[in-house]
Amino acid sequence: MTLATPATMPAPGLVAATPGSLKVGIPREIFSGEQRVAMTPDTAKKLQKLGFELYLETGAGIAAGFTDQAYQAAGCEVLPDAPGLWATADIILKVRAPQWCPSLACHEADWLSPDKTLISFIWPAQNADLMERLAHQGATVLAMDAVPRITRAQKLDALSSMANIGGYRAVIEAAHQFGRCFTGQITAAGKMPPARVLVIGAGVAGLSAIGTARSLGAMVKAFDTRPTVKEQVQSMGAEFLELHFQEDGSGDGGYAKVMSPAFIAAEMALFAQQAREVDIIITTALIPGKPAPKLITREMVEAMKPGSVVVDLAAEQGGNCEVTEPGQITTYQGVTIIGLTDLPSRMAAQASQLYGNNLYHLLTDLGGSDQFAINLEDEVVRSVTVIHRGEVIWPAPKPPAPLPPTQPTGTTPVIKDSSAPAGPGLGSQMVWWIAIGLAFIAMGRWAPPSFLTHFTVFVLASFLGWKVIWDVTPALHTPLMSVTNAISGIIIIGGMLQISGDLTSPMTILGALALFLGTVNIAGGFMVSHRMLNMFRR
Ligand code: NAI
Repeated sequence: MTLATPATMPAPGLVAATPGSLKVGIPREIFSGEQRVAMTPDTAKKLQKLGFELYLETGAGIAAGFTDQAYQAAGCEVLPDAPGLWATADIILKVRAPQWCPSLACHEADWLSPDKTLISFIWPAQNADLMERLAHQGATVLAMDAVPRITRAQKLDALSSMANIGGYRAVIEAAHQFGRCFTGQITAAGKMPPARVLVIGAGVAGLSAIGTARSLGAMVKAFDTRPTVKEQVQSMGAEFLELHFQEDGSGDGGYAKVMSPAFIAAEMALFAQQAREVDIIITTALIPGKPAPKLITREMVEAMKPGSVVVDLAAEQGGNCEVTEPGQITTYQGVTIIGLTDLPSRMAAQASQLYGNNLYHLLTDLGGSDQFAINLEDEVVRSVTVIHRGEVIWPAPKPPAPLPPTQPTGTTPVIKDSSAPAGPGLGSQMVWWIAIGLAFIAMGRWAPPSFLTHFTVFVLASFLGWKVIWDVTPALHTPLMSVTNAISGIIIIGGMLQISGDLTSPMTILGALALFLGTVNIAGGFMVSHRMLNMFRR
């Protein structure tokens, strides 16, 4: 039965579904404690613009703070039960993988049929039985946990969206358990040192945790096996801990690789020393598809000060800390161990909005309602499609490794044959150098002494200017602009001094030209700097 009240009419401005529109259904999540929902009223409006007709199981958004009325006002139709919703929809959008529904004594996967497409987190590596069950139904299944970490797919990357929220919430949970302020203060009543936070693993969740802890005023240190993240960590105001050990942890697809036992031993020695100093440890170290490495031992926890906190984000994959109990907050020798596995769900409204946006972008890439198609030629679509019309096609084949870069012609090693005559390139270069040398000699012989002084200054200035600009890394070109502005100021003064009453004299023309170019440089520098600064303003 549909609740066809006047409120179910699309709100003004919403795109009405066309007769042949695909129906998208959003069931209520039945995983215990799950508060997120796969669509918010805001993303509902976007999905309608793609031409979809939207159906929602009653109460699906309540835990995230979205009422049925809010969805109805956004043009969705609310259905009273899950079986009816799964039967109506062509495409089901979910957060958690389908599971057994105790109240209906039925598995959600059994409601799928060959004409339907399910899009949700699936975790195919960990859920072989579920994959078999879904394939048996003959449906098509897209796993949001299988989005490749490539630039083009960033807007669909639900794992990153959730990890970002998870990292933020990890710090908030730690702050809640930690009996002190994060920020250091000196007050009349006494001095409060800042909290010391160590973040292990500076991926998406780790960087988010670093940013949050820093903004609360803590002193943050971080460690990661991938040296490439050092600059990101430092740019967020944290200290990057380094090991004097030559091993790069960068692996395929933007993820890390499993490190050698010797490296793990070295980093654990570092953590043992840090455990005595820091107040809070947040661990996020993980390689996808592998059990979380055990990096914080029982002894390290015992060495921490009483009142300290460990937040183990990798708890669901076994945990980075030896004493973590997944899903629980426990105390061990005065240290609080947070092993919560539902951190994004604890910020359900925000998490649902981001996840809903990820789904919207995926459905856009799939062609919207009118041109909906699973194009397995597309790298991103191929990667997320784990079951296609009942056939398990996970994992997607790895994209061919990029060809080794061909050596630029200029750097091709050449075996020199001293007996061979010099090539034409070298010959013409020699001619140039000889010509320049002769020109200098002629100038020294005939030019007036005042010209020679100016000319020497000009040559030295050109050489220095060229070295200064070329040897500065592109990242520093903006600060460099401030310096060139100062130089341009001097050029303008010089130009003004040369402008005389005679408008046709070469000195006046050159002076005016110098004035004009210097002004353009200064004005352009200010404009670019202004735009750059605007990027950092909130
Ligand atoms: P990610 O892959 O972006 O980051 C993991 C980082 O750990 C990488 O930078 C990697 O280089 C580093 N790493 C791997 N092995 C290491 C080692 N031995 N030592 C030091 N660093 C190491 O992953 P992301 O998205 O940041 O997620 C991190 C973890 O947080 C995952 O386990 C994820 O499941 C979990 N998570 C947990 C949530 C919860 O509610 N508990 C919520 C969201 C994410």
